[in-house]
Amino acid sequence: MNNNEERTLSIIKPDAVERNLENNIKNFFSNNSLRIVDSKKIQITKEEAEEFYKVHQSKPFYNDLCSYLSSGPIVVIILEGQNAISENRRLMGATDPKKAEKGTLRFLYGISIDKNSVHGSDSLDNAKKEIDFFFKN
Ligand code: CDP
Ligand code: MG
Repeated sequence: MNNNEERTLSIIKPDAVERNLENNIKNFFSNNSLRIVDSKKIQITKEEAEEFYKVHQSKPFYNDLCSYLSSGPIVVIILEGQNAISENRRLMGATDPKKAEKGTLRFLYGISIDKNSVHGSDSLDNAKKEIDFFFKN
C-alpha cells in the first residue's frame, strides 16, 4: 500500500442484504476509489455481535443492536484505498439516515437509525481490530 493507503472494515447489514443491495453497495465503493480486498457473506451469533459492538455496551440501544446484527446474513468487506477509513465514513453518511447527506449510502438505502444498511470502522486502531475480528484465521 502507498502513502495514505489504509484498510477499513465495512459491513452490509441485514436490512441491506435482505433487499439484495450487496452488488449496488460494492459497486458504490468501487466507483468511489475504494477497492474490495476481500469479502464474505456470513451470519454471526448474538454473542459475536456483543463482542463486536462491545464499545457500545453501556448504551441503551446495545441489546437491540446486537440482536439486529445477528438477525440475518451480513456481508463483511475489507476496503482499501487512500484514507479509506474517513473516506468510507464519508460515503456512508450520518448514522441516522434522515440526517445523511444526499448521495451517501445511508441516504440512498438506510431505513432508520437502527436499520442503516452499513457499518464502517471509525479509526485506524478499530479498523485493524475489526478486520482481524472477521478475517483472522
Ligand atoms: O454506525 P456508526 O458508527 O455511524 O454509529 P455508532 O454511534 O457507532 O452506533 C453503532 C450503531 O448503533 C449504528 O450504526 C446504529 O445502527 C445503532 N444505533 C442505534 O440503533 N440507535 C442510536 N441512537 C445510535 C446508534
Ligand atoms: Mg461506530
